[in-house]
Amino acid sequence: MDHFLYRDGALFAEDVAIADIAAAVGTPFYVYSSATLKRHFHLFDEALAGMDHLVCFAMKSLSNQAVITLLAGEGAGMDVVSGGEYARAKAAGVLGDRIVFSGVGKTVDEMRLALQGGIRQFNVESEPEMARLNAVALDLGVVAPITIRVNPDVDAKTHAKIATGKSENKFGIPISRASAVYALAAGMPGLKVIGIDVHIGSQLTDLAPFEQAYQKVAELTQQLRSEGHEISRLDLGGGLGIPYERSNASPPLPSDYGALIKRCVGDLGCEIEIEPGRLISGNAGLMVSEVVYIKEGEDRQFMILDAAMNDLIRPAMYEAHHDIIPVKEAEVGTLPETYDIVGPVCESGDTFTKARAMAPAMAGDLIAFRSAGAYGAVMSSEYNSRPLIPEVLVQGDQFAVIRQRPTYEDMIARDIVPEWI
Ligand code: LLP
Repeated sequence: MDHFLYRDGALFAEDVAIADIAAAVGTPFYVYSSATLKRHFHLFDEALAGMDHLVCFAMKSLSNQAVITLLAGEGAGMDVVSGGEYARAKAAGVLGDRIVFSGVGKTVDEMRLALQGGIRQFNVESEPEMARLNAVALDLGVVAPITIRVNPDVDAKTHAKIATGKSENKFGIPISRASAVYALAAGMPGLKVIGIDVHIGSQLTDLAPFEQAYQKVAELTQQLRSEGHEISRLDLGGGLGIPYERSNASPPLPSDYGALIKRCVGDLGCEIEIEPGRLISGNAGLMVSEVVYIKEGEDRQFMILDAAMNDLIRPAMYEAHHDIIPVKEAEVGTLPETYDIVGPVCESGDTFTKARAMAPAMAGDLIAFRSAGAYGAVMSSEYNSRPLIPEVLVQGDQFAVIRQRPTYEDMIARDIVPEWI
């Protein structure tokens, strides 16, 4: 459920008309609903009620300061994967002991930053990372709390570019080597092993792979305990999928996912962490764009937008589907037209969708991409020197620009022309 609904034929974000935002900030832009963000966070929090737990928002999905400040205020911890995300979380007032640090390539600078600023735990992904973190911690005279990310070799049945739990992926250590790696960590005085981490992929629409992975984690917990390790925390990652197509069956609910977690690991007496991103932010955002031209091709019509692949790269990168809807609802009984919906960037990959049935559109009409809150703005770029598009946050009947559109001058001023040219 989200808060983007039609009222008298006009698309609203909560109590604000999308057309009013477009008039104020220009197109294209991202718009997020505070109510949806909060609701989705609380669905997870409630799904784990009764267990000692922390829901850490995967900031990579949507890291605008306003959004993370809002979620932190609701009680979310943060899952960060870079020094930049760590700095953002701290700037939003999140305490170090509510921040987990994930990722396969943490640098010495990132380790230092987090050890000095405070960290709940590092999710360590390899032996070399372990050795380096140990050295950095000893150098600073502190002990780094860690979990070790295990790769359970489970097929997440999602797009190949976002599956992470198979042995061929770069993530975690093979679960078969866990015993040896935990023993190695136990011998490093700069590290304190507190648990196990697992994350098998993103946009999972079936609970079975989670169940397989979490059962393996439960078995591993018992085994490592019998080998003398203290396993008191399980980080179960993110990955629960969202309905990108309204017409399709819905993926499992956070409540089903919570019940699964309780069933698999609930009796181990561990503190549970999860790292959802997409399910919290995905359907909390739209990307709104204006139709620039309708162009007649030889055998098709192109709807050419003012938004492009640099603004929302998911269709080009993962063949991802986004529902695309008119901001002004079509009259009942209007017959649809078929369009290839494209951006203005100079490559054929700049295609959002092909042969999509839509209400007839004209130049100047506004359209909205649904489910664009997650991995939308954060993955955008200024390719073709198209300035980053603004982000807007709505709450009730108010809205605010939470990231401004740079002017051409701002964009140019970031480059430096050496005086010797
Ligand atoms: N934890 C870890 C360690 C992760 O690698 C990820 C996502 C998450 C949590 C959050 O997963 P989520 O709940 O959002 O599925 N750009 C891609 C998605 C990449 C996901 C990367 N890792 C997309 O647009 O579909």
